[in-house]
Amino acid sequence: MVSNPVEVLTKYTELYGDTFKFYIGGLKEAIVTTNPDVIQHVLKTNWENYQKSEIQVKRMGHFLGKGLLTTHGEAWRTQRRLIQKGFDRKQLEALSSIMQDSLAESLKGFEREVRAGSVDIYPHLMKMTFSMVARSLFGAKLKDEDIDLVSHTICTVQEFIVRQTLQPYMNPWFGVSGDLRKHEQMRERADSILMSYIKQRRHQEPGNDLLQTLMDARYSDGHGMTDELVLSESMQLLVAGHETSSNALSWMFYLLSTRPDCLERVRQEFDSVIGGAPLSYTDVPRFEFTSQVIQEALRLYPPFWMIDRMAVADDVAGHVAIPSGSTVIVFVYGAHHAPKYWPNPELFDPERFTKENEKLQPPFTYLPFGGGPRGCIGGNYAMLQILMILSILLRKYDFQLAPGQQIEARPMVILRPRHGIRMTFTEAIARDHHAVLQE
Ligand code: HEM
Repeated sequence: MVSNPVEVLTKYTELYGDTFKFYIGGLKEAIVTTNPDVIQHVLKTNWENYQKSEIQVKRMGHFLGKGLLTTHGEAWRTQRRLIQKGFDRKQLEALSSIMQDSLAESLKGFEREVRAGSVDIYPHLMKMTFSMVARSLFGAKLKDEDIDLVSHTICTVQEFIVRQTLQPYMNPWFGVSGDLRKHEQMRERADSILMSYIKQRRHQEPGNDLLQTLMDARYSDGHGMTDELVLSESMQLLVAGHETSSNALSWMFYLLSTRPDCLERVRQEFDSVIGGAPLSYTDVPRFEFTSQVIQEALRLYPPFWMIDRMAVADDVAGHVAIPSGSTVIVFVYGAHHAPKYWPNPELFDPERFTKENEKLQPPFTYLPFGGGPRGCIGGNYAMLQILMILSILLRKYDFQLAPGQQIEARPMVILRPRHGIRMTFTEAIARDHHAVLQE
């Protein structure tokens, strides 16, 4: 279970059906489900009865403070309404240029490395996407070394939280050994760096970034957020947007490398929709086939392979009794691979997401961005970011999977490639030149 929970829960789903009880670590009762009616009930219909689980609220809250990811009730509702503005159409259009500039900067390092030989694309894509998110939040002037420090802190603290959760009996030892304090200090260091950007901004010209949205937001009594709240909300957005798009992109490169026909169609779509121009948010709805590819990659490899909740009061979902205090695990990966809803589920087939086919799909069988009121706030941002990176890398390079690797998923908080994904990249000019010669 610790090394591969997806495999174990998939096996149990086959054996016991789409909803079953399971004892985490042999102790804590959890209800695991891939049943769309139960999922809809928990995430949408009666969502207020299902709070975020202990790992999110207690352990993450310890390091991340209060914010969208870790609060409930009225506090969450107010913050969600205010922060949502940072992800509306107008704001995403404004963010496009910060994102493009950040990407151009990251590409310099990428170009140098791919010239030297094959690379593991995962850390590269993670650096690209995290720099984009960090600069969308704190502005174009955010320094590279500060981005690296915050990214490293998030990775290390997240791993520590997973250890605390999977080995709860070690928690007293983490306190005595100084491990807990060490991680708290890392977090304090990252906080103080980000706080200095917040304090500076209070005396500077307004920016076009998410930090400005957070600072300009006003509650009904006319007050704004304190610097401390701006900091913890920013940190939570950085955590939520840290590894998600990079994972989705890594799997997409892998899948496209196995399907040259799809890759060619994607490239043609980029040519016909934007030609040589940079991509902006208004272009996004015009990418039909590429969106299908992204959706299918998110089906096969959903970055959030499960969503967990805790029942506040006794409840019944369909004919499943859910006693108060029980954990409900929405097994997203299982739902995305259920043969009942996805014929031949292991096959990469973007045609599943044509407009006509999408309409036939029952609700809550596909939920890469979650569902209901607590679904992802950054979904449109993520689509823009993924398309932007594809628009540059796919047109600039030919790429191939390096031989002799084992590609496998590792489900931690996020579904990562277990051994990375090594690829060779060659400049596409060579490809075009070759095509011309052949003609
Ligand atoms: C492919 C990329 C992404 C995927 C697959 C994804 C997936 C998800 C999922 C499944 C949830 C719901 C979790 C739950 O119900 O417990 C969620 C929530 C959230 N996501 Fe994303 N996400 C992505 C990108 C982003 C980005 C780029 C940001 C921010 C810049 C972001 C910010 C958030 C926030 C703040 C929440 C919590 C919302 C709330 O509780 O009100 N996500 N995401």
